[in-house]
Amino acid sequence: MTAKKRDKMSIGELEEAVRKHNALYFVKHTPEISDEEFDRLVEILKKKKPDSPVLTEIGSDIGVIGKTVRHDMPMLSLDKCYTEKDLNHWASKFDGKILATPKIDGCAVALRYGQDGHLMLAATRGSGVEGEVITPNAKYVAGIPQKIGLKNVEVRGEIYMPLSVFKKFEEAFANPRNLAAGAIKQKDPKKTANYHLRFFGYELLGAGCKTEEAKRHHLKKEGFHLVEGDLVDKKGMQKIFDEYFRERNKRDYETDGVVFKVDSVAEQGELGATAHHPRFAIAYKFQGDAGETKLRDVIWSVSRTGTITPVAFVDPVLLSGATIQRVSLHNFGLAKKMGITIPCKVLVVRRGGVIPNIEKVIEEKGKPLTAPKKCPSCGSAVALRDDFLFCTNPKKCAVTTIAELDYFCKVVGIDGFGRKHLQQLYEKGLVKDPSDFYLLKAEDLVPLERMGETLAAKLVANIEAKKKLPLAVFLRALGIPGLGKHVAKILAGYGTLDPILKMKKEELVSIHTIGEKIAEVVVEGLKEKHSLIESLLQTVAVEKGRPIKASEGPLKGKSFLFTGALLAMERNKAEELVALLGGVTAGGVSKNLDYLVVGDGGGAGSKLDKAKALQEKGAKVRILSEKEFLKIAL
Ligand code: IVH
Repeated sequence: MTAKKRDKMSIGELEEAVRKHNALYFVKHTPEISDEEFDRLVEILKKKKPDSPVLTEIGSDIGVIGKTVRHDMPMLSLDKCYTEKDLNHWASKFDGKILATPKIDGCAVALRYGQDGHLMLAATRGSGVEGEVITPNAKYVAGIPQKIGLKNVEVRGEIYMPLSVFKKFEEAFANPRNLAAGAIKQKDPKKTANYHLRFFGYELLGAGCKTEEAKRHHLKKEGFHLVEGDLVDKKGMQKIFDEYFRERNKRDYETDGVVFKVDSVAEQGELGATAHHPRFAIAYKFQGDAGETKLRDVIWSVSRTGTITPVAFVDPVLLSGATIQRVSLHNFGLAKKMGITIPCKVLVVRRGGVIPNIEKVIEEKGKPLTAPKKCPSCGSAVALRDDFLFCTNPKKCAVTTIAELDYFCKVVGIDGFGRKHLQQLYEKGLVKDPSDFYLLKAEDLVPLERMGETLAAKLVANIEAKKKLPLAVFLRALGIPGLGKHVAKILAGYGTLDPILKMKKEELVSIHTIGEKIAEVVVEGLKEKHSLIESLLQTVAVEKGRPIKASEGPLKGKSFLFTGALLAMERNKAEELVALLGGVTAGGVSKNLDYLVVGDGGGAGSKLDKAKALQEKGAKVRILSEKEFLKIAL
C-alpha cells in the first residue's frame, strides 16, 4: 500500500485494516503487510481517532480464543416474569406492536462484521461487559455467515446445540446449554465442528433498522438462521405464549419461555434500560417450570459441617413433570430477606428446569420466620454468621456425626452402609467416629434392623478391604471443610502425613492454587482432627502419596473473591470449587484480582463498589454473577 493511499483512508477503513491485519498476524499467522506498515496504520488511526476501540484490541486480543474483549454495547440480560398479570404490567408502559420469539436456552454471542462485511470478531456474552473471543470457532457454527453484505454491524444471537445432536451426549452432560458453552470455547476451533452447533440471530445493531421486523428481514437476507417469530399486539401475547408452550416439544432446541420485545426501535430508546436489563423486552417463562403454591412449614436441616439450613414444605406442585414438596431456602438470612412467613404464598421455579427454588413470596400472611434457638438435632446453642445458622457443638450433634460417618464411607469406598444403619450404630454407641468402623465385628452388626448374617459378614469384609488407603483419600475422608479432592491431591504430594500435619498456614498459602481462607480452615481442621487421625492410624495403613504437577484446572492461575449471599452453595464450598479447578481465593479486592463473584442472594456491599471503582481505573477485575460463575465452574 502506498503512503498516499494510506493517508487518504477514512477512519472506518483504517479501523477495518488494523483489525484485519492484527487478526492475520496473530490468528492466522499469515501477515500480509510488514510490521512497519502495520505500525504506520496504527499511528494514523491514533491521530485521526485516538479513542478508537480498535486501538485497544491490538496485540492479539481480537482473534485469540479465550482472550477477553469489551462489548461495544453491554450485553444485558432479560427481565423475566411468570404470570399474565406481570406481562401485562410490563406492556402497560408502551404502545404498539410486540415481537414474540421463543426463548432459546443457549449461549448469547456477539458477532462484529467489519468494513468489508467480513466477520471480524465473535465473542461470548461473558459478564455482559466483557466476553471471550471465539472468532475462529464461530466458523464452525451453522448459521453464522463469514461474510455479509452489511458493513460495520453487530449481530447478536444465541448459539445452541440441537436436541437431536445432544441425544448423543445426554448421558454425560446435564443439558445442551452447558455443552454448547464448552463446545464454542474449544482451544482447537476445528473441534467445535464436532458438536454441530447452530446459531439463531435476534439482534442487528448499526444497520439503522427502525423495527425488529426489519432487523429480522435483513438478518434472513444475509443468511442468518432466525428463530420463529410473530408480531402481536398486547391482546395477543398470552395466546402466542400458550401456542409456543404447546409446540415446545416439537422444536429441535430447548426453549424455556417466550421473549417479548417492543417492535419499534424508537420506542425501545424511549423506554431505556436498568443496569441489568432493557425495559423494552421481557422473558415470560414457561409455566411448566414455575408455579404458585402455599408454603406450610419450614424445617431446619443440619448438614455434616453443622450448618442449619431452612427447608420449606410446600403444597405439592407439579413443575416440569416432577412434584415438588420440599424446597431449600438456602440460608436463614436470605429467607428473612425474602419475607418468608409461615404460612405464605410463594412462587416456586425449577431453576434451569431442574433445581426447585422459591423465587418470591407472593403473599405473606403468617408468622415471621424465626431462627431456632437450639440445634434441632442435638439441642446445642445456635450461632448466626453471615446469614448462615450453625450448630455450636457439631461434634456432639447426632445428625452431623452421622452425616460425617456417611461421608467417610463414601470417600473411602466402604459400600453397603445406609443412613439407617449408621444411625443405629451411632445410637448404640458402636460407631462414634470413623475409626470405630475398623473395630466392628459381624456379631456387632447382626442385631441391627434390616441386617442378616450374610450382609453383616459382607459389610465387615467391605471395611477390611479399606484398611489401606491412599494418602489423598485418607486426607479427604477426614471431612475437613476446604480439604476437597484438589487440596487433598496437592497435600498428598508431600508423600507422608507427618509434614502435612506440621504444615503452617503460610506454607499452604505459598502453594499456588490454595487460597488463604482454604489454607486457614485446612490447617485448623487438621489440628482439630488430631485425635481422629491418631485413632484411624491404629488400624489404617496410609499409602505414600506422589507429587502432582501444578494444577491444570480450567481456572488455573485465576483469582476469585466472593461477595454477597451465594444461593447455590455455601461460600467455603464455592472456594473449594475454585481451588479444585486450579484457581485461588483472594483475600480482598485489589487490582490483581481476576474475578469478583456476586452472590445471587444480594448484599454485595463494599467489595462490589471497590471492584467497580478499580474497573473504572482500568483494572482487569471482572464482575461475575453467581450464575455466571457456576457456568464457568460446573
Ligand atoms: S432478545 C437483552 N430473543 O436470553 C437481550 N434473547 O436471559 C434481548 N435469549 O441474554 C435479546 N432467546 O441471550 C432475545 N429469542 C430470544 C432469545 C434471547 C434467548 C437470551 C439472550 C439474553 C438471555 C436473557
